[in-house]
Amino acid sequence: MRKIAVFISGEGSNASKMLINFREREGLEVALVYSSRPNENLKVLCEDFGIVYQYRPWNDPEKIKLLEFCKKMRIDWVVLAGFLKLIPAAFIAHFPNKILNIHPALLPKFGGKGMYGMHVHNAVIHAKEIESGITIHYVNGAYDEGQIIKQFRVSISENETSETLSTKVRTLEHKYFSDTVAELIMSNKT
Ligand code: GRF
Repeated sequence: MRKIAVFISGEGSNASKMLINFREREGLEVALVYSSRPNENLKVLCEDFGIVYQYRPWNDPEKIKLLEFCKKMRIDWVVLAGFLKLIPAAFIAHFPNKILNIHPALLPKFGGKGMYGMHVHNAVIHAKEIESGITIHYVNGAYDEGQIIKQFRVSISENETSETLSTKVRTLEHKYFSDTVAELIMSNKT
């Protein structure tokens, strides 16, 4: 059984999809959801599914114990599903190539510190790109710079706005993120 921790900072729509998707699968278990902001919906979903839910602000000194907690729970993989904080080096050392992230654009463009949410879509529209999409990638010590695993694309129409693009990208995330993560983890032999 591969045990997974999902980290979130926002609404948690991708995390919810993942929790539901993974319940149907053998060999994968979401054991922990850590949220750096209170998230009532995820809390309730976790309670329903018997998943440990932990909320603690990222700047809380107690949060330092998160890695210890993951070790104690024997977590194998960490999935960042809309997690906005930089992952500390100690995490990356403990989970080499076992931390995954989703980014709402086609990296290496439109990534890095401050590139999240509508900032990303605004930048894509401003740059007059003809396509955008999502990138699922490994996490290293820098924002959005880890090795790319898979990308899915959407075309941008002439009258596209940041809002309409955001909806298109969100649809791609909900359609592909969980399945891609599940396939990757199940095919990993290490
Ligand atoms: C998604 O757009 C994801 O690509 C980005 O953060 C957003 C999270 O949305 N990293 P949600 O919290 O899953 O609704």
